[in-house]
This record gives sequence, C-alpha cells and structure tokens, in this order.
Amino acid sequence: MCKTLSALFFVTVTICSALYAQKVQTGQDLLLDLGCHTCHSGLETPDEAIIRERAPDLSNAGLIYEPGYLLDYLQNPKPVRSDIGASRMPDFGFSDAEALAVVLFLRQQTARDPNLPATAPVTLAEADRKRLARQFDRAKKSHPAVTAELGKAIFRAQNCMACHRIRGMAPWPRPMAPDLARVMERLQEPWLRAYLKKPHAVRPLGFFPGSGSRMPNFHLTDEEIERLLAYFKSVSRATASKAAEPAPLSSFAMKKARALLRDKLSCLGCHRLGERGGRIGPDLSSLAARIMPGYLQQIVRDPQRAMPGTIMPKIRMVPVHEKTADLIIRFLWQQREPRQAQPYFSLVDFPPVLPEGGSRAERLYKTYCAICHGVSGNGDGYNARFLHKTPVVFASTGYMATRPDDTLFDGIFSGGYILNKSPMMPPWGGTLSVDDMRLLVQYLRQLCQCQGPAWSRDGQR
Ligand code: HEC
Ligand code: HEC
Ligand code: HEC
Ligand code: HEC
Repeated sequence: MCKTLSALFFVTVTICSALYAQKVQTGQDLLLDLGCHTCHSGLETPDEAIIRERAPDLSNAGLIYEPGYLLDYLQNPKPVRSDIGASRMPDFGFSDAEALAVVLFLRQQTARDPNLPATAPVTLAEADRKRLARQFDRAKKSHPAVTAELGKAIFRAQNCMACHRIRGMAPWPRPMAPDLARVMERLQEPWLRAYLKKPHAVRPLGFFPGSGSRMPNFHLTDEEIERLLAYFKSVSRATASKAAEPAPLSSFAMKKARALLRDKLSCLGCHRLGERGGRIGPDLSSLAARIMPGYLQQIVRDPQRAMPGTIMPKIRMVPVHEKTADLIIRFLWQQREPRQAQPYFSLVDFPPVLPEGGSRAERLYKTYCAICHGVSGNGDGYNARFLHKTPVVFASTGYMATRPDDTLFDGIFSGGYILNKSPMMPPWGGTLSVDDMRLLVQYLRQLCQCQGPAWSRDGQR
C-alpha cells in the first residue's frame, strides 16, 4: 500500500499511518504494538521499543495536562493519537481515589526540556474544561487523604514506566506479570479467550502479592484476540500441554481432601476455595475451568519451576507427601466450588508494598511475610482478615520476648500445623534457604525490638 503511494512523498507518511491501523498484522506485531511484553516475561524479541516510542513521555505531564482531564482519562482512556497503529492506552480499572492519586503524582512531573511537547494533544472546549475542573475539585474534597506519594506507588506498581518514559523511573525488570510464552500450556483456551475480552482480578493484590499490579483492559476486539491466541499457540511448547486429566476421586476421598485442606495444609492461608481462604494467590474454586491438568500437577509439586518468581512455597505434605499431593491435585481438579468474581483490592486501602530497597532481610520479609503479618509486624497484612487466626504480631515485644529464636526458626521452616498452631501459616523450609530463614528471624527481632528469653540465648549462635 505504502509503496504505491511513495511518489506522493509528503503525504506518504500520514496516509501510511492511517492505513497502518487496518493493515493485517501478525500476532507478534500486534503484541509489540500493544506492549504486552513490557510487563510479561517470555516474549523477549529484538524489536521491543515500539511502544516506548509511541506512548507519550510523561516527564512534563504536570505542565501540559489539565488535572481534570487526566482524572477522567485514566479512568476511561480514549484514543487520542491517530498515528500509533494498534497501540493504545489500557484501562487499569482505577477508582476515583486511585486515579486522583496518580494525577497528583503526574502534577509533580514538570521537567522543562525542548524535546518534550509544549502542549497537550487534546485541547478542551471551555465547557469541558470547567466540568472536568469541577470533577477534579470534587475528587480532591472526597478523598483528602490521597497523596502524590501514593500516586507514585500506584504508578510504579502498574509499571506505567514500561510504556511511558518518565524522568527518574525505569521500568520494572521482568517478570512483573505471568510468563506468556507458556500461556497455552497453563491455561484453558476458553478461559483465556474470555479473560482477554474482559480481564478480572486473578491475583487480587498483584503478581507479586502485595505489589498491587493489575492486568489492564486493552478492550481487544475478537479479531485481535484470535490473532494473539494464534501467536501464543505458535510459541508454546506443545509437549507439556497434553498431560492426562487427574483421575476421579470417590466422595469419601473428596471429604478426606477437604478435611486436610481445613486442618493441616496451609493452602487456604493463601488461596480461596468457595467461601473460605486467603486472597494471596488465585481462587482455586472450579479450577479445572481455568488451568490445564499438566500445569496443576507442576505448580503443586514444584511451584518455582512452574511459575518462576512466584512466592507459592514448595510444601511437603503430611501424612505421606506423594499420596497427599496426588489426593489434593485430584480433589482440586474435581471440585466445582462456585467461583466468585472479585475486583482487585483498592490500592488506597492497601497501598502497594514493593519488595525493593532495604536489606535482604527486609526484602524477604516484604515479599513472603508482610502480606499476612503486616509491613511493620502488626499482624495486619491485607490477607490477615481472611484467616481464622490472627497472624502473630511480631511488633509485640511482650509475646516475642517469650519466643526463643529456635522456635521462630522452626515456625518459619515447618509452618503452623507441625507446631500445633494455625495451619494457615505456610512452611517455608522447602523454598527459602537456611541462611534466609535465619535472616528472617533476625528481622523479626528488629520488628519486636526484643530478644528471646535469656535461657535460650545462653551459649547459642
Ligand atoms: C502493565 C503491565 C501489563 C501489561 C502491559 C499487560 N499485562 Fe497481562 N497481566 C499483568 C498482570 C500484573 C497480570 C496478573 C494479573 C492478575 O493475576 O490478576 C496479568 C495477567 C495476564 C494474563 C493471565 C495470566 C494468568 O496466568 O492468570 C494474560 C493471559 C495476560 N495478562 C495477557 C496479556 C496480553 C495479551 C497483554 C497485551 C495485550 C498483556 N497481558 C499486557 C500485567 C500486564
Ligand atoms: C501497555 C502500554 C501502556 C501502559 C502500561 C500505560 N500506558 Fe499510558 N498510554 C499508552 C499509549 C500507547 C498512549 C497513547 C494513547 C493515544 O494517544 O491514544 C498512552 C497515553 C497516556 C496518557 C496521555 C493521554 C493524552 O491525552 O495524551 C497518559 C496521561 C497516560 N497514558 C498515563 C498512564 C499511566 C498513569 C499509566 C499507568 C497507570 C499508563 N499510562 C500505562 C500506553 C500505555
Ligand atoms: C504463601 C502463599 C501460598 C501458599 C501457602 C500456597 N499457594 Fe498456591 N499459589 C500462590 C500464589 C501466589 C500463586 C500464583 C502463582 C502465579 O503467579 O501464577 C499460586 C498458584 C497456585 C495454583 C495455580 C492456580 C491458578 O489458577 O493459576 C494452584 C493450583 C495452587 N497454587 C495450589 C496450591 C496448593 C494445593 C497449596 C497447598 C499445598 C498452595 N497452593 C499453597 C500462593 C500460595
Ligand atoms: C498466609 C498467611 C501467612 C504468611 C504468608 C506468613 N505467615 Fe507466619 N503466621 C501466620 C499465622 C496465621 C500465624 C499464627 C499461627 C497461630 O498463632 O496459630 C503465623 C505464625 C508465625 C510464626 C510463629 C510465631 C510463634 O508464635 O512462635 C512465625 C515465626 C511466623 N509466622 C513467621 C513468618 C514468616 C517469617 C513469614 C514469611 C517467610 C510468614 N510467617 C508468612 C500466617 C502467615
């Protein structure tokens, strides 16, 4: 198309751009235009920068955009530029307060640089300007506690920097979202198709639990979805996907599995099943509608291999590991607990906790423990409300001073059940190194600003 027009030199560029939107792209072109690879791992290609050239640089957003316009746009992005192919701004499903926080942060971006555009691409009619300004004032009044600092945390948590340049902030290193190269091996095709059409919360407070990352809605057309699926199929390693379905269980065995999940295993500390359970990992209700049987086997047996970067621990199951693991897998495959759609947690109520900076011990604690025990050890992590037992309050000097270091270590290593405590405390011994668990014990001592009983310290370590 473009070539036949090339004689018309000057108009070529604009005409080609307009046609580009209709040009049939391969699935991979589409993916690069949309920028899926900027958050998801597994799709690295040499030609990745397209989206970062097309999404506007936000380093001077505070100078060129009206705050009311931004507030509206972030909650309801509409096409602005016509020359950027299939690229578009996705919808993160922000509430008014979340969007306000991000706007307050963007207001602070006032870099003066001749290379940045001096005005916003959309000029508002006077009536719209006034209406949006009123909306912004109303939002500020309704949410007085919302700050630019929270906005920055949300901006970082959503990886806005993956597509937009902004002074002083680099994109997250991948992965910050699930591996997409293997998505056809992991997920059932009908589920995936419906999800791409309308994404919803799977990991309710982020891929790194607590980080608050979300899958934004790109409002993909059916045709775009088919093209993406065809691409995912073409890159998937077909061998792994054909695992047999787990064999059915008797109703007696189903009951036994239920009792194990209730009384012994820590799975429901992190996962919801029907009405019960935590909200750290995906809801396991009616799991067979979502994931592939081979993936179910893998993730229960070796989570870090199945999903690199996940915090799901490798759990030695009681009583007999292999038999119990098999029972749980078959149970999960067979149960049809109703799945309740649930929105992402509010990032205003649960500000993102990003596992970065600080000491190694602090990062470990923020990655694996703060979701239940709370960032400051107050037993108030976002997941605590879904457990039937309050996670131990590490900030409580009185209690912690009665606990020897060895007992804390054993608790971390073996989990709650073995120690006759709530089974919802997971065992980390199969996942974290001994050194890391020792660092964690030391970190708990920092949180309580206390030491174990004197007798336990005599002649130890
Ligand atoms: C801004 C970062 C970001 C971008 C860009 C992005 N995603 Fe995601 N995506 C995520 C996060 C975070 C999750 C996990 C969300 C959850 O579990 O609720 C996710 C989840 C998914 C899932 C579900 C996987 C699973 O195991 O549950 C699929 C499929 C997916 N994304 C496809 C895409 C496609 C296709 C694109 C491009 C059109 C895309 N994503 C762009 C962040 C992103
Ligand atoms: C997957 C890539 C991608 C991600 C992630 C992304 N954006 Fe965008 N954004 C775009 C593209 C592309 C445009 C240009 C859309 C257009 O012009 O129609 C855009 C446009 C914008 C605009 C400018 C609107 C205008 O009128 O010029 C703002 C502001 C914005 N994005 C903010 C954000 C914020 C805040 C986040 C994180 C919460 C974010 N974006 C995440 C791709 C992205
Ligand atoms: C510390 C929290 C934690 C514990 C304990 C835990 N998991 Fe997970 N689990 C997760 C997270 C987080 C994920 C999401 C991995 C990812 O990003 O795809 C996950 C993923 C899964 C999945 C894949 C679900 C899906 O829809 O993709 C299954 C199945 C699963 N876990 C089963 C179990 C079982 C069975 C147990 C108990 C033996 C268990 N988990 C214990 C955190 C946990
Ligand atoms: C899914 C939620 C959850 C996660 C994640 C979690 N815990 Fe716990 N933890 C609990 C609960 C609940 C208890 C309380 C058990 C009881 O009192 O019956 C507990 C108890 C403990 C105890 C026992 C203290 C004592 O009384 O001796 C220690 C130690 C501990 N947790 C450390 C950690 C560390 C370190 C991490 C991160 C590596 C962590 N926990 C992650 C829920 C969790």
